[in-house]
Amino acid sequence: MDKFVIRGGKPLKGEVCISGAKNAAVAILPAVLLADGPCRIENLPRISDVNLIIRVMEKLGATVKMVDDSIAEIDPTAVSLYTVSEDMAKGMRASSYFLGALLGRLHRAQVAPPGGCDFGVRPIDQHIKGFEALGADVSIENNMVVCRANELMGGYVYLDVVSVGATINIMLAAVKAQGMTVIENAAREPHIVDLANFLNSMGANIMGAGTNVIKIRGVSHLRGTTYSIIPDQIEAGTYMVAAVATRGDVLINHVTPKHLESIIVKLAETGARIEQFDEAVRIRMDKPPRRCKVKTMPHPGFPTDMQPQITALLSLAEGDSTVIESVWDNRFRYIDELRKMGAQITVEGKRAEITGVPCLKHARVKATDLRAGAAMVIAALSCEGQSEIEDIIHIERGYENIVGKLSALGADICRVSMD
Ligand code: EPZ
Repeated sequence: MDKFVIRGGKPLKGEVCISGAKNAAVAILPAVLLADGPCRIENLPRISDVNLIIRVMEKLGATVKMVDDSIAEIDPTAVSLYTVSEDMAKGMRASSYFLGALLGRLHRAQVAPPGGCDFGVRPIDQHIKGFEALGADVSIENNMVVCRANELMGGYVYLDVVSVGATINIMLAAVKAQGMTVIENAAREPHIVDLANFLNSMGANIMGAGTNVIKIRGVSHLRGTTYSIIPDQIEAGTYMVAAVATRGDVLINHVTPKHLESIIVKLAETGARIEQFDEAVRIRMDKPPRRCKVKTMPHPGFPTDMQPQITALLSLAEGDSTVIESVWDNRFRYIDELRKMGAQITVEGKRAEITGVPCLKHARVKATDLRAGAAMVIAALSCEGQSEIEDIIHIERGYENIVGKLSALGADICRVSMD
């Protein structure tokens, strides 16, 4: 097990290039299984979640050739297996996308319950409701989620909660079903639109992605395609917050500024100066952040996946801030770690009240999950002295080359073996 050692207190300065979006990649890769021919996927982030998805695809019978670190050529034509075992599924939430993809391809899927970050209970009832609306039988057998269908017919699904995963899974299952599927109260995240664009480039007929009603007219065949994944808005947002927390000046390249709107608005409220370009944003800060109130919401609201990072920043704000988590029931578990660094935060249910302090203090902390780990990195970069962050396996699930990218911005960070 390795850890990050960070000697903070240095403003981040320079340029950073953002990788492809994790949450788009982990949906688009399983979607390749629906194609009749090879696909070339570009701008893949080099992260462990993507490696794991690729390993599952190979186990199922796909041939995967890495052309370089970020481009994969995948031939799914030989895929005939439909089981994703527990050792494969438990490592990440996105393993559940093999349910929709395999159901769409083979009318049969058997996937162990998905793992991923621990935010309390993470149900998949809305995914199952969607599969059933398409005519599938879904059962739990030997601790596996088992889906079977003689044929899939388009159906109407109203999601009781706005769910990214359920929206994606239903799209995957419906794209080759007979007739029209309608998903109401669908998620609108950029990665939903990216998946729809990918499937449409294979010949699918999906309308309305990016709105809360998605209509999918089933097609019988999907051809292979070449597709480049969108930039990761959460990785971009994380570097933006790190720049503000260290009072730096960073040009963040290869982003879609439109996807960053809610983050830009909040960081501007804290006093950061932000300029937007076609595919970049520059962010500068030269004073303590101002207090503000943040409430996480499904897109286009402030993303829950930026909640720990902005909480770390607001720990340093002048005055009292409030952060309300409205997507997950239990996404404040990392606050104990932030308190070890001197943050003054009280949590009641889904609400955190933050009393800003002039500076945090270095400490040894743990990355309790992916974005919580990013928050610890930001906190450690902001304060003088040497901090150590353990359990970085969580961070490396979602951030490509974070040590290299931060080092290039002038941070003093290294990865050290704990053995
Ligand atoms: C995706 O998780 C992301 N993961 C998460 O990002 C992100 O936090 C989340 O969407 C919300 O934006 C991936 O894309 C791989 P949901 P997902 O279904 O799909 C409830 C990160 O840090 N719900 O949109 O699992 C659920 O309990 C990760 O990159 C049901 O009740 O999230 C939650 O309260 C962490 N029943 C809410 O909906 C269901 O069947 C939103 O969950 C499904 C969800």
